Amino acid sequence: MPADPTPPWWKTAVIYQIYPRSFCDTSGDGVGDLEGVRRHLDHLVDLGVDAIWLSPFYPSPMKDFGYDVTDYCDVDPLFGTLADFDRLLAAAHDRGLRVVIDWVPNHTSDQHPWFLESRRSRESPRRDWYVWRDGTPDRPPNNWHAAFIDGPAWTWDEATRQWYLHLFLGEQPDLDWSNPAVVQAMHGTLRFWLDRGVDGFRMDVIHCIGKDPALPDVPAEIAGIPACALNDDPRTHDLLRDIRHVLDEYPGERMMLGEVFLLETERVASYYGSGDELHLAFNFPPLFASWDAAVWRQQIAQAEQHIEGRNAWPTWVLSNHDNRRHRTRYGSEARARAAAFLLLGLRGTPHLYAGEELGLEDAEIPASRRLDPGGRDGCRAPIPWTGAVDHGWAGADPWLPWPPECTQRNVDAQRRDSASTFHLYRRLMRARRASPALRTGAQRVLDTPGGIVAWQRDAGSDRRIVAVNFTDETLDWSPSGEWQVEVASGDAREGERFTGRLGPDAALILR
Ligand code: NOJ
Repeated sequence: MPADPTPPWWKTAVIYQIYPRSFCDTSGDGVGDLEGVRRHLDHLVDLGVDAIWLSPFYPSPMKDFGYDVTDYCDVDPLFGTLADFDRLLAAAHDRGLRVVIDWVPNHTSDQHPWFLESRRSRESPRRDWYVWRDGTPDRPPNNWHAAFIDGPAWTWDEATRQWYLHLFLGEQPDLDWSNPAVVQAMHGTLRFWLDRGVDGFRMDVIHCIGKDPALPDVPAEIAGIPACALNDDPRTHDLLRDIRHVLDEYPGERMMLGEVFLLETERVASYYGSGDELHLAFNFPPLFASWDAAVWRQQIAQAEQHIEGRNAWPTWVLSNHDNRRHRTRYGSEARARAAAFLLLGLRGTPHLYAGEELGLEDAEIPASRRLDPGGRDGCRAPIPWTGAVDHGWAGADPWLPWPPECTQRNVDAQRRDSASTFHLYRRLMRARRASPALRTGAQRVLDTPGGIVAWQRDAGSDRRIVAVNFTDETLDWSPSGEWQVEVASGDAREGERFTGRLGPDAALILR
């Protein structure tokens, strides 16, 4: 596909995920806050990101650390106030940074006033805002499994003698999106933030909002898989087109980035519709791909075939708040650095997870400090800003332990060291911003020895090659023509002619 002459912002942006609890605490309670994000915006601009995505900061009992919302139109006092949000948004916009916020439409908290009312009685006017079913206490209405808990996606309500559905924790009841009143109310929550000026939404498990009203059993052999990874109902596409209309009422290309937790790229791709549903969808299979050239060649081919194949724009992500960081998964700093070339060099929109630009590993969480029912605490460790004892937080012990080696591996120390992972990411993002080929250019995978994956990007006369050696040996490979090293993860000298050698677990951008 040729380069797009006037691409929308979300095609060329590098999006940076902030988990507000873990970014920076300014209030002294050990939990990060919106003011902590605002104070570090200059760092993000200097790094080279174009947009931030904030994980939920809504009022919440925090059973799922904010993905259990009690009010879609406010800020939890833990994170600040609506005024703090407005200040953050204005400060970001002043710096040319877009702001994407998380939106959690599939479920609320069980403490949300809607659910409290729904639960009150079978006659409650909001009973049908959630998914209630008859039955007996010993037998849930179907065989769906919940995520994060080893058990059914149903909780029996003894007072009203019915079951309610929850694809996640019992404290996260599913809204019933077949009810037009729910649709209207949720559209209203989008408008609330669009009116304030947000640039888009990351939509939590968006593929789950439409459900077959018959709620049929899943085949017995897959009944242990959480239903949130299986639900793929056509009704969601109608709902998404209507949500898209809401965003399209606003100027400036407000963006829908959907979390589609289906582990086949082809199924993820369907949520782009025909350009009338999501602008971007997370494609998670590469996030779960091992450090292996053949596996990655296959992932690239899948994105090209299924996403580009329907004229949609891919996304790339290596780490987030739900999975072990790629530095931890791949097991070495060299691999984590080389992986950044996949993220920032492949055609599509890259999504970074705060701290990966420091090469952070997951924290070791002693049993006494484990908090998350899904076991995801390690990747949510706080970001160390300095080498001081409180690492630039406000003094209090943070809600989770610090990641390993953060006396050296922190923002201040890495800024001073031009060989650091921080500077590598910074150079990659600068190279990307300066090159139409890397931003929107066509992509062609090249013939290489088995352990290397290399691809060429072209936009008019601008061209780049990106190459990654997935083995622990030095490999020789020369593309035809003269090429110069622009960015290197390992020993190769930037600015010099490419010698045709790629070091172990090393990656290059050539120009
Ligand atoms: C996906 C989010 O990324 C995760 O953190 C959350 O627990 C579930 N959706 C439920 O909202």
